[in-house]
Amino acid sequence: MTQAEFVVVANRLPVDRVPGGGEDDWRRSPGGLVTALEPVMRRADGAWVGWVGQADHHVEPFDFDGTHLVPVALSSEEVELYYEGMSNDTFWPLYHDVISAPQYHREWWDAYVKVNRRFAEAAADTAAEGATVWVQDYQLQLVPRLLRERRPDLTIGYFHHIPFPAYGLYSQLPWRRQVIEGLLGADVIGFQRVADAGNFARAVRRVLHYTTKGSGIHIPEDDGSTRVAVARAFPISIDSEAYVEMARREDIQARAAEIREGLGNPRTILLGVDRLDYTKGIRHRLKAFGELLAGGEVDVADVTLVQVASPSRERVGAYMQLRDEIELTVARIAGDYDTLDHTAVRYLHHSYPREEMVALFLAADVMLVTALRDGMNLVAKEYVATRTDNRGVLVLSEFAGAADELSSAVMVNPHDIDGLKEAIVRAIEMSPAEQSRRMRSLRRKVLDNDVGRWSRSFLDALVEARRVKDGKD
Ligand code: G6P
Repeated sequence: MTQAEFVVVANRLPVDRVPGGGEDDWRRSPGGLVTALEPVMRRADGAWVGWVGQADHHVEPFDFDGTHLVPVALSSEEVELYYEGMSNDTFWPLYHDVISAPQYHREWWDAYVKVNRRFAEAAADTAAEGATVWVQDYQLQLVPRLLRERRPDLTIGYFHHIPFPAYGLYSQLPWRRQVIEGLLGADVIGFQRVADAGNFARAVRRVLHYTTKGSGIHIPEDDGSTRVAVARAFPISIDSEAYVEMARREDIQARAAEIREGLGNPRTILLGVDRLDYTKGIRHRLKAFGELLAGGEVDVADVTLVQVASPSRERVGAYMQLRDEIELTVARIAGDYDTLDHTAVRYLHHSYPREEMVALFLAADVMLVTALRDGMNLVAKEYVATRTDNRGVLVLSEFAGAADELSSAVMVNPHDIDGLKEAIVRAIEMSPAEQSRRMRSLRRKVLDNDVGRWSRSFLDALVEARRVKDGKD
């Protein structure tokens, strides 16, 4: 059994099976979390505990790209109850301000507890004496406490990648006490926004009546002592330099030109890139665009909207319904405004490799991030990082975590369709001088605050927590 000094625990392993490949053919998975943690893992030579992403697959631990991977197996029933159910049909909608109605089912909760216990056991078996364990995201909120119970010697961090809702919503959760107690097993609990950390501290005060002081939460222990856990914001970011490098590559720039040409070289390309998720405001974006075409504020001959909606959680009802709605709307816009030689909207229900995404970012004049609620939204940061010529406009929802840092974007409230339409027109018509002024300021933020800085500041907070703990021992 490996004894690693640094262990990440996440619902998914950072690899996917290569389609059509053999049992042992893996490739690094795309996606924000993996991109964010990969450089840290490589440096720390750590272990990663997670699910392989397929039901009923038992895979032995193996090494991949400098990381020891410890697969956790889930049965198809557990995938249904713990992952699709409790994680993605209860916590996800509840934590995203009930954009879709959360479902509360006791058998989902029971499976969630059971699976969290399995992850905690795997982490406990993998971590060396006194190691640091970093638990990731809402699928594993009980792991910090379960792990602390088994291994009090560990330093435990937890990072919450999605929003933490206001108490008025959180209090709906029938298991609100257990979840908070689960999270408080960590020494450091990280959130995307200051507001998320504030919501969490309030929930702790309301549910458990603990005292909070600044970012410290005072937890009474059984032996009469008090343990202080830290809960504060650590806004996540991207590997900015990697995006800059890709944006400078000639082959990727040539691909961007090819993409523009393929779309008929329209004057303006608007771009949306999201997982197909109801939190992303894709319908609001399409509605605003459709109305702009209908009202003639945007000339169909000049503008194309490219919407990449990568497949996600396809067995969850709310996602199936959303896909139908989006595809109906896209078909209506295309039917009304496409001509034999011009596309008003190009909809792509695929995932693409990072290089292709960068080419798309380079091809796009306006990036539309219109999330109704989003933990951070790394796509906004990726677009900014690739705009090395300081051209292009980011239209950004104030409900995305990224809005706290990227205040030089054109800010929108996506629920306000008229406001969204105005913002799109403003972005299309923005002078090169204003584009450049805004983009420079955005780029400074993204280049200074990259994912390395995020992980360093989180891990520094853990080191500090360890120091305090050792001082007390
Ligand atoms: C969000 C969550 C991640 C999750 C990702 C993809 O970014 O914060 O925890 O992994 O979505 O969702 P999936 O359900 O496919 O893992």
